[in-house]
Amino acid sequence: MKRELRTYFLGIELSSPLVLPAGVLDISFSSLKQVSESGAGIVTTKSLTLEARKGHEGPVVAEVEGGMLNAMGLCNPGISQGLEELDRLRALSAEAGEESKVPVIVSVFATGAEGFCELAERVNSSPEADFLELNLSCPNVMDEFGVPLAASEKIVAEIVSSVKSVSRIPVIAKLSPNVTSITRVAAAAAEAGADALCMINTLGPGMDIDTLTGRPVLTNITGGLSGPCVKPIALRSVYECRKAGIIIPIIGVGGVTDGNDAVQMLMAGADLVGVGTAVYYRGPDVFGLINQEMVSFLKQKGLSSIADIDRIFQPDHF
Ligand SMILES: Cc1cc2nc3c(=O)[nH]c(=O)nc-3n(C[C@H](O)[C@H](O)[C@H](O)COP(=O)(O)O)c2cc1C
Repeated sequence: MKRELRTYFLGIELSSPLVLPAGVLDISFSSLKQVSESGAGIVTTKSLTLEARKGHEGPVVAEVEGGMLNAMGLCNPGISQGLEELDRLRALSAEAGEESKVPVIVSVFATGAEGFCELAERVNSSPEADFLELNLSCPNVMDEFGVPLAASEKIVAEIVSSVKSVSRIPVIAKLSPNVTSITRVAAAAAEAGADALCMINTLGPGMDIDTLTGRPVLTNITGGLSGPCVKPIALRSVYECRKAGIIIPIIGVGGVTDGNDAVQMLMAGADLVGVGTAVYYRGPDVFGLINQEMVSFLKQKGLSSIADIDRIFQPDHF
């Protein structure tokens, strides 16, 4: 564990502030293990639903300038199989004699408070789940489910407070940038009892067209935008929440590709930093690479740990 990068999130010590955010890799235990070995401090599962979902027909991802469009359509094996994969992750670590286990955020998706509570109760029964993340913000299933739940402060508050009353583990609300005021939605989630926030989910939806065929590149026509082009919006979202006085921990996600981006996210006020689309650009070792780049930044600046970034560069100073 690199001493300079050690940090705490809701009472748990992490080897790095880097987080694998939901959905970017498959749910398999081997993928989660691979990124934790690379240097992620926490890993998040794909968003799990009560029943398995096939998702949209391919192509479901398209590379666009400055980023990526995806319309996975929340494909996942369902909550039961998802939790079984976690058991396998732990069994594998135990077999290898590993002393420390990477903390796991279980991401879940439902269409209302009742479904989220049912999922929270299922997650309660898994000793391997450390945090529960509510995906309130998926933009590529709008044809099926309508506008994301995170578009309404009232609905977000209702879901968060209902889930908090049943969950045995801390609850993270994952928010959408596709709203008039992410700050108001974040405040509603915090007031309703969310233990932490994760922002941002993908932007849009957007689309791309193949001029040779005259057809949209994605079979679903539209998809959520991620990668470097969304970073300015992610930074602004985190910064505005801090400026508005929201004090619960924030996982800042969106376009982080190298150590400099990660430091920017910490300077904006994030406690932890998600690295999603960059896994496609730089491979699963991206976590180790960004960890090294953050350590180089600290050395250059004469800082002894990432806590110093928090101490010296508060958003209030902007
Ligand atoms: C292929 C893909 C699948 C995703 N699936 C999910 C998901 O299941 N649940 C969720 O909350 N976010 C999902 N996301 C959003 C990411 O977790 C992240 O919030 C977003 O991509 C922005 O970060 P990035 O620019 O680092 O990728 C997905 C993103 C991608 C690229």
